[in-house]
Amino acid sequence: MGATLRQGGRAAMDFMVEITTASRPLGARWAGELARSGLDAHSLPDDIDAREGAVKQALAGSEAFAVHNLVMEFASVEHGRVARDGFNEMADVLLPRFAELEARGPATLSCDPDFVVPDYYRGVWFHRTTGGWDGHPEMGFVHSELIHKTYVARNFGGDIFAQRRAVLGMLPRRDYARILEMGTSSGHFTVALQETFPTARITGVELSVPMLKEALRTANANGWAWDLYQRAAEATGFADASFDLVASYIILHEMPARAIRAAFAEAYRVLEPGGQMLMSDVTPYRMLDKMGEWRADVQAKKGGEPYWREAATLDWSQAARDAGFVDVAEGGLDGALYPWVITATRPKADQP
Ligand SMILES: C[S@@+](CC[C@H](N)C(=O)[O-])C[C@H]1O[C@@H](n2cnc3c(N)ncnc32)[C@H](O)[C@@H]1O
Repeated sequence: MGATLRQGGRAAMDFMVEITTASRPLGARWAGELARSGLDAHSLPDDIDAREGAVKQALAGSEAFAVHNLVMEFASVEHGRVARDGFNEMADVLLPRFAELEARGPATLSCDPDFVVPDYYRGVWFHRTTGGWDGHPEMGFVHSELIHKTYVARNFGGDIFAQRRAVLGMLPRRDYARILEMGTSSGHFTVALQETFPTARITGVELSVPMLKEALRTANANGWAWDLYQRAAEATGFADASFDLVASYIILHEMPARAIRAAFAEAYRVLEPGGQMLMSDVTPYRMLDKMGEWRADVQAKKGGEPYWREAATLDWSQAARDAGFVDVAEGGLDGALYPWVITATRPKADQP
């Protein structure tokens, strides 16, 4: 559900986009300076944590590096606050619309008052936004409409919504009827699932209620009967063999390796024999050279992603096979490195 911000919020969001866009040539400039310093993918230290020091030393006199880092640090810390302030300016208009959309429509949202979020999630300020996914009662709208559709979409290379639809083309079937999405958040991937499989019954699990409320409103506004639950991907509570597809988009990098493994095992359990799992996320580090790996790792750290390295170094295919899956395949969309997709099938008969 879209909204036009008031002048103050709009100007502040535009400034966040423009300052990061305008600083891009500085990134290209320090990359050139780094190349000329002789430090490259081969000469970087093998120890990933030692690479930052080596790069800083090589670029000690670089104004481009200093200013670019400053801008990115500012944007990283401030984008969430700016988006929240933009929402608060509009709250008088938006909240009545929210109440109406939550009350009327075919979608359902089930929250258990005794639900306890996993320990690795509690108190983590993902993306360095105050309080993380639960940092504002309307974080779903703040993140979906203001951060994702305005700030991320305009800063990120490629069409982030077309990518969500396109990864579904990597599935072997077009006739899924009972789909479970893990990490529904505000519903961006759920929309892609709905549009790709319009007759399927879609169920979503997600830890954050503010995010789920935005998904609920999106579903109701479009007449989609999604069943949304505040539950963890690794403990969905659904009966064995309840679904023919379990899918997720960019949640794995927010989970430690043990939770990813548990989510794969849960996907296996709730899939009917012959059903598929599709998980799409960030580029595995093994696909990058040492420089690419350092860049991804440092951006993740500065971007408030505490589990990115763990997720990007886990062997997802092995984890899927460990969970019992067969026909496991991994690769980037259209031969690119992002988004990275794993597909796997629960065998028709369980393996001995
Ligand atoms: C980057 S968002 C991805 C959102 C969505 N799938 C999309 O395509 O935009 C990650 C979401 O995963 C949720 N999440 C993280 N760990 C989870 C878990 N163990 N179970 C369910 N949801 C989880 C977070 O709360 C967050 O809303």
